Formats: sequence, C-alpha cells, structure tokens
Amino acid sequence: MYNEIDLDRIDLTQEAPAQEPVRQYYFMAKCRKWVQEFETKNKRRPTACIQTFGCQMNERDSEKMRGILENIGYELTKTEEADFVLYNTCTVRENANLKVYGHLGYLSGLKKKNPQMVIALCGCMMQEPDVAEKIRTSYRYVDLVFGTHNIFKFAELLVTALESDRMVMDLWKDTDKIVEDLPAERTYPFKSGVNIMFGCNNFCSYCIVPYVRGRERSRKPEDIIREIEGLVADGVVEVMLLGQNVNSYGKNLEEPVSFAQLLQMVEQINGLKRIRFMTSHPKDLSDDLIAVMKDSKKICRHLHLPLQSGSTEILKKMNRRYTKEQYLALAAKIREAMPDISITTDIIVGFPGEREEDFQETLDVVRKVRYDSAFTFIYSKRTGTPAAAMENQVPGDVVKDRFNRLLALVQEISKEQSEKVQGQVLPVLVEQQNEQDDSLVTGRLSNNLLVHFPGNKEMIGTIVDVHLKECKGFYYLGESMIQ
Ligand code: 5AD
Ligand code: SF4
Repeated sequence: MYNEIDLDRIDLTQEAPAQEPVRQYYFMAKCRKWVQEFETKNKRRPTACIQTFGCQMNERDSEKMRGILENIGYELTKTEEADFVLYNTCTVRENANLKVYGHLGYLSGLKKKNPQMVIALCGCMMQEPDVAEKIRTSYRYVDLVFGTHNIFKFAELLVTALESDRMVMDLWKDTDKIVEDLPAERTYPFKSGVNIMFGCNNFCSYCIVPYVRGRERSRKPEDIIREIEGLVADGVVEVMLLGQNVNSYGKNLEEPVSFAQLLQMVEQINGLKRIRFMTSHPKDLSDDLIAVMKDSKKICRHLHLPLQSGSTEILKKMNRRYTKEQYLALAAKIREAMPDISITTDIIVGFPGEREEDFQETLDVVRKVRYDSAFTFIYSKRTGTPAAAMENQVPGDVVKDRFNRLLALVQEISKEQSEKVQGQVLPVLVEQQNEQDDSLVTGRLSNNLLVHFPGNKEMIGTIVDVHLKECKGFYYLGESMIQ
C-alpha cells in the first residue's frame, strides 16, 4: 500500500525502476528534492492549484493528482496565483472547451508576473488531436500537456516539465493499463469517489467520451474492496462508485463479476454507511441490480438513469439501444420495487433530425417517469462523432424554445417530487457548514436531496435524523432530532 512507502528513503542515485507504481514513487521522491531546493532558495514552499472542469471522474482524477502534489511538498491553494497550475479539462460539450481557452488567457497574464510559474493541462480535451495542436502552436506558454490515459505518470511528467525549458507533451491514444496504489488527497474527509472502471464502449453517436477516455476497463473487485477498506479506515462513510456505464462492470475481467455482485461485496465492508454509484446505462440495468438495491441497507435510494431522448427514432440515431417503451418499463419496474427511490436523468435537446413530435415524446417520458431532477443539455456538435456528420441539424432558435419548455416541465415535476417527503424524519449525512449562515449545516438525504438545518461543524461526516419541515423546491429546511 502507498502509505507504507517512505519517499525520503528512495535512492535517487539509481536509475528509475521500470515497474509501476514504484517508478512513480521514485519520481515523487525526485520532485520532493526539487521542492526542498525551491524552499531553501525562496524561503517558502511552492504553491499549486488544480482546477477541475467536468464530471466526477475528473474530480476523482484531480484528487489523485492533489495527493501526489501534497506528498511532494507543494502547498495546495484554491487560487491560480500559484507556482504550479493544472487545468483538468472536459470536452463533452463545446462550451466546456471555450471555458478552458478563456482561463488560459488569464493564466498568461499571471505567468508574466511570475515567470517561474508552471502551467499544465490534462484531461479529456487534451485527447483531441486538434486541441493538442492548437495548444502546441498558439499557447506556447503552457509547460506540460498530458491526457486521460497517463494520469498515473503525473509525478514523472512533472519532473520532466520542471527539468525542461520546452513544452512537454505526452498524449496516449489508448491504454489497457490500470495502475493501483497511488496516493489521493480527498476534497471531503468523509466521502470519496472510487473508480470501478474506466472508458466506455457504447459509442452513443453524439458523445466524444469513448474517443477521449478509451475502451472499457474494469478494476478487479479485490482492488476496489481494498481501496474502500483503506478509505473507511481513514474516516470515509460514503463512497460513490464511478464508471461511465457501471452496469457493464466486470464483463471483461478474467473472472467476470457483475455490478450487482460487486455491490454485494462493497455492502459487506464494516464501517461503510452509504453507497452511491454513477452512471447507469438503461440498456444494461439488470433485475439482479434492482433486487440487490431493494434489499440493501447501504445503497442510497437514488438512480441516475440517462434518458437522452424519449423518441424511439432519435434514440436509434443516438445508438442508445433501447426504445421509449423499454425505458418506461424499466423505470416503472424500479419505482415498483423501491417506491421511495429518486430517479434522475440526463436529456439532450436538439439532436440532429429531432422534430417537434420527437420532442413531445421526450416531454411524455418526463411526465410519466416523474424525474426527481434532470440535467438538460442543448445538443453540442463534437467533431469526430457520427452525429456531427448527420443532416438536419436543428436551428438554434427552435432548440432554445424546446429547451425552455423542457426545463419548465422538469422543474415543476421536480418540485412536486421533492415535496413528497415533507414532514418525515429521515437520515441526513452532514457535509458542511452552510455557506451563507454558519448556524446551519447542509447535508444529503439518501435520495440525494439537500437539507439545511441548525447544527454545528462537529456534525460534519455524521448521519443525523432530521425532521423535514419545509420544502423549498430543490432543498429542505429541517430540524435535527438530537437537540
Ligand atoms: N451534446 C450535448 N450533451 C451531451 N452529453 C454528452 N454528449 C453531449 C453532446 N454532444 C450529455 C449526455 C450525457 C451527459 C454527461 O452529457 O446527456 O449523459
Ligand atoms: Fe457517452 Fe454514451 Fe458512453 Fe455515456 S454511455 S459516456 S453518453 S458514449
């Protein structure tokens, strides 16, 4: 395990070992030496800031890189006025990319003030060849660029960048490697994301993820369990199992294990109180999973089940591999098994060829499933995906109008759904002190709804029974039962 390694005892006069993860421990030790020299020269520790764009996968990757920086001796900061700044990027929709370019302009100004600043970029956006080329030619002040497949090499790449005066770029097309046992610095002491698989094989026709995150690879159940046991020993009570499509977990392992079986193993871990997971693809959601969830004491009453569109014809063009009727039947089966479950979703408006009739089918599914909440997106054309080359792209004003109508319906239903637990006393995992009012704390119900109630910071990380007094639409005001 990583915490048994003493970086100061690694012999840097030897060559770097070829094996992982020990090779990375060697480079961490090398970085630590560099940090100590910086400290002697500048009478302060170097500072580092990681900004994350995009999904929980990226958040978890950032925690891993923060863990390495922390071990090396950097002081982590929230501001970009730092000696090392890393943007962990997203490219799922175009505006995610535009945001990164905007921020880079700002960093160039900061680097003029602090010329020893090191600027690094990683994540999904860097896996796109056009982007990498643009950074190489037009953003020459960037020092280090790497992608999604070689994040485990972060310490080694950092050493290379610190020793080089040219831009270091290391981008891999794909990988079958999974490197275990590197440190992570968690954002919250009491909860953590845990990767159970990487990549995606579904190739939904609008989505760039399979191109930038590569083929599906599952971690072995024993490695996942060992990581969670370590986290629990370190104070974690809630884990979020992460994968682009958790329902196909384990299919390609030497000894196949289903996602439902993995959940049963995680449930056995003593001291772990809550289990969440994300994301489920409707086409692979098994009856076994529903049965395991129904009987579980720890799996939260929340299922994120992306719909994308309610029109069977559009779903076919999206390559989603289910029909409107199959999706509705699945949602009904889930609600029947667990009436108190919250179902949330993702919906895309304005996919190429979407007609008003297709959009009406989407509204129909929203009315029938009654989502507890939904992320709604305007279709964004991603170069290289099949949908980008499709005819009948929908005009912007039509999309905007549909988007607004969808949002209004989603919000109305979501508010009604939230009101269903009004007056009940339910367990809340307290996450933080309220940002506006520090006499309040904020936490989450098993179904993921937010609750604010009078409390103190000693409650953070504990589960408290709360009387849900007043529904405010998307959150509750409550009162703890231990006054
Ligand atoms: N345009 C709009 N939304 C998209 N998503 C993925 N690709 C696109 C795209 N090209 C949405 C899907 C997915 C969520 C993470 O992002 O709804 O579930
Ligand atoms: Fe993209 Fe579809 Fe894979 Fe989700 S399942 S990451 S939407 S290709």
